[in-house]
Amino acid sequence: MKSPKICICYGTSNGATAKTAKMIKEEFFSKISNIQIDTFNLYESGPPDWKNYEFLVLGSPTYYNGQLQDDWSQTVLSTPPNELQNKKVALFGLGDQESYCFTFVDSLGHLAQWLLKECKAKLAGYWPVQNCGTADNLICKQLDDSKFKIPFSLTSYCFEESAALTTYQNRPVFYGLALDQYSQNELTNARISFWCESLINDWNLNMRN
Ligand SMILES: Cc1cc2nc3c(=O)[nH]c(=O)nc-3n(C[C@H](O)[C@H](O)[C@H](O)COP(=O)(O)O)c2cc1C
Repeated sequence: MKSPKICICYGTSNGATAKTAKMIKEEFFSKISNIQIDTFNLYESGPPDWKNYEFLVLGSPTYYNGQLQDDWSQTVLSTPPNELQNKKVALFGLGDQESYCFTFVDSLGHLAQWLLKECKAKLAGYWPVQNCGTADNLICKQLDDSKFKIPFSLTSYCFEESAALTTYQNRPVFYGLALDQYSQNELTNARISFWCESLINDWNLNMRN
């Protein structure tokens, strides 16, 4: 059987997103046999040749009050949208919900808008949110969909606003995995583990037993 080919592509200014990309790669390798994963740092190697990959995992931190990281801004401008048409894409984003609580992980939202509206890509890996900054926590429940059987504690955040928020089955979700290495660093490993598992399920990648 042909092995699935995944591209993990990220921008980083201070290295945290690079470290996260490596963790995601290791997590996939620990869960799936017979898989090829190539990693691209946009600054070092530029964007990949997208047509070589069926599955794309794209990561960006947020900077300057809600902006995409610089390497991503340039990539978005220079990539013809049809190169990503119908691609299976999942997003992860790094941010800081305490210091930047009005623009928490906004980059996830910017990348999602570009991918969904301009590129017509197929987004997977939405991540449930229980936000203590809104009334959502009064009705906080696990999402029904089997894709989202994620421990409640991993879905807790505390911020005011985020361009990365949307809804799935009338529940609040982020467009992708939101990580915060400052106030929730201790949750990162488990979040990555459950997120990769949900992608393996959504993308029908082979589970190693
Ligand atoms: C100047 C500056 C602006 C930032 N702006 C935001 C922001 O608007 N929203 C957010 O969630 N995080 C923001 N952050 C936090 C970064 O996204 C976070 O530190 C991230 O982990 C950095 O990733 P990197 O090391 O891969 O560059 C900002 C950080 C700095 C230093």
